[in-house]
Amino acid sequence: MPTPLAIDTDPGIDDALAILLALASPEVDLKLVTTVHGNVDLARTTENALRVLHLAGRSDVPVAAGAHDSLVHPQPERAGHVHGTAGLGGVELPPSPAAVDPRPAVVALTELLTASPEPVTIVAIGPLTNIALLLRVHPAAAARIGRLVIMGGSAARGGNVTAAAEFNVWADAEAAQAVLTSTLPTVLVGLDVTLPTVLDEDGIARFAAAGPIGARAAAILQQYVDHARTAYGTTGVVVHDALAVTEAILPGTLGTVRRDVVVDTGLGFGRGQTLVDRRTVSTAPTAVEVAEHVDSAAAVEFLVSRLASLDARPV
Ligand code: BDR
Ligand code: CA
Repeated sequence: MPTPLAIDTDPGIDDALAILLALASPEVDLKLVTTVHGNVDLARTTENALRVLHLAGRSDVPVAAGAHDSLVHPQPERAGHVHGTAGLGGVELPPSPAAVDPRPAVVALTELLTASPEPVTIVAIGPLTNIALLLRVHPAAAARIGRLVIMGGSAARGGNVTAAAEFNVWADAEAAQAVLTSTLPTVLVGLDVTLPTVLDEDGIARFAAAGPIGARAAAILQQYVDHARTAYGTTGVVVHDALAVTEAILPGTLGTVRRDVVVDTGLGFGRGQTLVDRRTVSTAPTAVEVAEHVDSAAAVEFLVSRLASLDARPV
């Protein structure tokens, strides 16, 4: 029985890859995509989510739009320089025949969580605004989340958007603080495990050669490859969001340790930093499973083979 899955996302190049990975994976049943401001504005993340699903022949998956900005302080800056101003690396995917779901994201998530006979996994791969709102508006529904897997934060690797902060946490620090100090069963997939996980150009070439879906996915990645070369000194793509989706598909892929985590919500240089207490293994109900160990080669191989398989399915 596949695990019901919802993805909360801001596509975003690596978000697009993460959505495609979920669609290629029989262990999960993608029931819902909710969108949030982040890499680009909400209108674009929503349109991009629709188009990515359509690319994979899955415009039946509902897309519900969520928060257009962060909870307290407006998001300081988008990431168009990384993802392209429209969010998909300058690639224009064909429009989807599907319309945006009329429900706000928190309502769509609430209905899914309440109606599902099985515990639902949520993977949050953008700023945490929608998840924080769900917690505050529909706590009983949030309490039904089976697993919340978050791409965000950093325990020991510093930041990527500032010296201290990872982008998704920095983009809505107050939301991240609310979520990471809640009792939701949370796994935090941060830069400690994503930065070493690099999809190189040979891997990209493998799914690019598989067919039209893989070729489009590879084209979307090209801008990210160029950015990663300058930003991280790598000759490939750092796999952030797809690694979180991998952990959602195959729980236990990453080695985690229960830690207490708080977010710096001050307005100084440390804003958005995740302060992960690595002195002890926590037994607090609010503790978070922090991903500290990854087999990066295996994770990349999994991603490449799953993406290549998309073109082998009947669409
Ligand atoms: C995260 O920030 C975004 O730009 C990516 O899509 C990913 O979710 C990495 O820090
Ligand atoms: Ca993202």
